[in-house]
Order: sequence, then structure tokens, then C-alpha cells
Amino acid sequence: MFAHLHNLSHHHAWRRQLELLLESTGEGIYGIDLRGRCIFINGAGAEMLGYTPDEVLGRNMHYLIHHSHSDESLMPVHDCRIFRAFQQGEGVKVDDEVLWRRDGSSFPAHYASYPIRNSDAADSPVLGAVVTFSDITERKQTEAALRAAHDLLERRVAERTAELSEANERLRRSHVALQRLSAHLNSVREEERRHIARDIHDDLGASLTALQLDMNWLRPRLASDATLQAKLDSMLELAGTAMGSVRRILNDLRPGLLDHLGLWAALEALLGDFQRRSGLACSYDCAAELEHSRLGRDAEIALYRIVQEVLTNVSRHAQASSVSLQAAAEGRDLRLAVSDDGRGMRLPAQPTSFGLLGMQERARALGGELSIDSAPGAGTTVRLHLRDVLAG
Ligand SMILES: Nc1ncnc2c1ncn2[C@@H]1O[C@H](COP(=O)(O)OP(=O)(O)O)[C@@H](O)[C@H]1O
Ligand SMILES: [Mg+2]
Repeated sequence: MFAHLHNLSHHHAWRRQLELLLESTGEGIYGIDLRGRCIFINGAGAEMLGYTPDEVLGRNMHYLIHHSHSDESLMPVHDCRIFRAFQQGEGVKVDDEVLWRRDGSSFPAHYASYPIRNSDAADSPVLGAVVTFSDITERKQTEAALRAAHDLLERRVAERTAELSEANERLRRSHVALQRLSAHLNSVREEERRHIARDIHDDLGASLTALQLDMNWLRPRLASDATLQAKLDSMLELAGTAMGSVRRILNDLRPGLLDHLGLWAALEALLGDFQRRSGLACSYDCAAELEHSRLGRDAEIALYRIVQEVLTNVSRHAQASSVSLQAAAEGRDLRLAVSDDGRGMRLPAQPTSFGLLGMQERARALGGELSIDSAPGAGTTVRLHLRDVLAG
């Protein structure tokens, strides 16, 4: 079976070792002479190809096992990489071709060929080659499965990413819609308040005034009866109290100062009123250049409502002893800050309570930003930054 092994080594002991080595490996190993004929093949190699070693010896290995590509098209011998490398006295390693078995089937193979020379000198003539080969069907299948799994994963990731960005976009759109709805509801609410204020002013206010006039007309005519006069006085007082309540309700519904004297006067009055009612020390510091600037009806009412809510929170939650409001111009931007020296709070990452949310939504609707600065024990400052709202 190793017909020409003595060409490789003449020494008997060496030959025996080589034989053992060849037979112990699972890899296929064969040798070819210069014409490509098999001069030896080990058992594992022959078996992989479906032959006995004797059936292979002397056969041209290219025509026997390497004649066609995997798609069964013929591979001419001058296209064979083993053959070409071997002609140039070089080695080669290939793992993208198939070898053919005796029964006409093929298997993907890894093979490597090493030229055998007469001596170690690089220019000594090539005598033949030793070729090792193995069946890499499993490796190819694993590679294909891996590739398929990888492709599948990539597809899934792409699909998932697309789904996520779609969901994100839907979320963003509904967020924008909610913001618009909130802004719309705010303006509807302000409009309704204006209507109700006008109705109360025109109906209730006018009736109360008429009532007061009538009672005042009656008063001198009851001068003779002290009991009736005392009754009338108490009625007049009641009417006066009712009138005061109506004015306060009207002012809450629609701060008249806002329309007549503008935001800054209305804020100053709001703060003054807050000081009277709460007993806290309030300071109002509005930059001189702002005094005569108007922001437009919607912006002014929104700003006023924000400050109103801030002050309500101070009296409800802060346990503060003083509050200050500062307003400053920065180019065409307006900066407003309301600070208290109360107990502060731990800020939520996202406000969920309606007071803070409402302030933030109102600020956003104006294209501005509202931020809250607070920590337990450190007071609270609410800042509002409105861009491009002042006349340049
Ligand atoms: N100036 C403040 N000082 C301390 N805590 C405050 C202040 N403003 C708000 N908070 C806290 O933030 C919470 C949320 O405020 P807000 O959204 O206006 O809701 P509400 O006033 O209805 O409780 C309050 O319940 C309170 O705990
Ligand atoms: Mg509140």
C-alpha cells in the first residue's frame, strides 16, 4: 500500500514510524508523483473517499476525486489549485471545494498540499506532493447554521428597532397632541372664566348695586323708626360684604388689573394681597425696563396663573417666612423667579401632581421652560424662562 514510501525514507525504522503515524490519524493523507498519480494513501483517507487504499494507488487523484466543482461543473486540471501550486513548487490550503467519493457523492473538504523536494534546498526539483484532507461537512453546516442564526438575529433586531421607533413616534405624537389639548383646555378655561366674570359683574354686580342704592334711598325715610333703621343698617352691611365677595371672586376669575394695568402691576398687587392674607414678608423686584412691557393676553394670563399657583403652594406647603419675586429682561428673553425660604421638597424626576404639571404645561405652551430648584430644608425656587417675548 505504501508502494513508494521508500522514496520518502529508505530507513526501515523510519518507514515503520511513518506508517504508524499515517494510520493513526483520522485525517486523509495521500502522496502524488509529478504526474499526479497516487503513490500512497492512508486508510482513513481511502475510507473517506469510499475506496480501499489499493484501489486508489496509481490513480490520477485529480480525475479520481477532484474532477468537478460542488455544482458538478467540471474542473479542468489546469484550474486545480493543488496542481498549480504543485507545479510552482508551492504549498496550498483550500477549504471551499469538494472532494468526490466513489459512489458519486461529494463532501466539502479542507485540504492542504505540501510539495516534496529532492532535498531541503529551495531550488531542488519537486518530486511530488503530500496532500492532507478532511471532511468538513459538520463545520460547514455549523457555519451555515451560525450564519442563518446571525442573519435571523439581525433581522429580528432590525424589526424590533423599527417597531420601537414606530412606537416612539406614536408616543411622541400623542405627547404633542396631549400638550396641544392641555394648552387648548387652558385657553378654553380662561375664556369661560372671562364669560362668567362678565355675567357675574353685569348681573349680580348690577343687582347688588341697585339694592344698595335702594336701601340708601330708604334709609332717611326710616329715620323715625330706630328698629327698622338698625335692620336696614345690617342689610346694608350684608350687601357690602356680598359686594366684597363678588369683587374677590371676579378678581380670581379674571384679574381686572391684568387687562387694565398689565402683568407687572397685577403681579405686584397679587403679591401685596398675598402678604396681607398670609402674613409672609413678600418682596417684589421687577427690572425697570420691564415695567412697561406687555407680553400679549395669553402669555400674561398664563404667567399670572403660574405665579398664583406658586404662591398657593407656598402658603399650603412651604411653612416659609418670606417670598420674593424677581423679574428680569435678558435681551428679548424674560426670566422670572419666585423663591421661598420654606421647608423645600424632594423633587420628583417628573412632576405628576397637577399643580406642578399645570405650571409646566402653561410654560411649555408659551414656548418657555419652567424649572424647580428645591431640596428638603433648603426652600424652593421656581424659575421661568421665556424666549423672545420682549420687544427688542
Ligand atoms: N413651595 C413649596 N415648598 C414645599 N413643598 C412644595 C412647594 N411647592 C410644592 N410642594 C410640594 O409639591 C407637591 C406638589 O405640588 P402641586 O403639584 O402644586 O400639588 P398640590 O399643591 O395640589 O399638592 C406638594 O404636595 C408639596 O408636597
Ligand atoms: Mg399646588
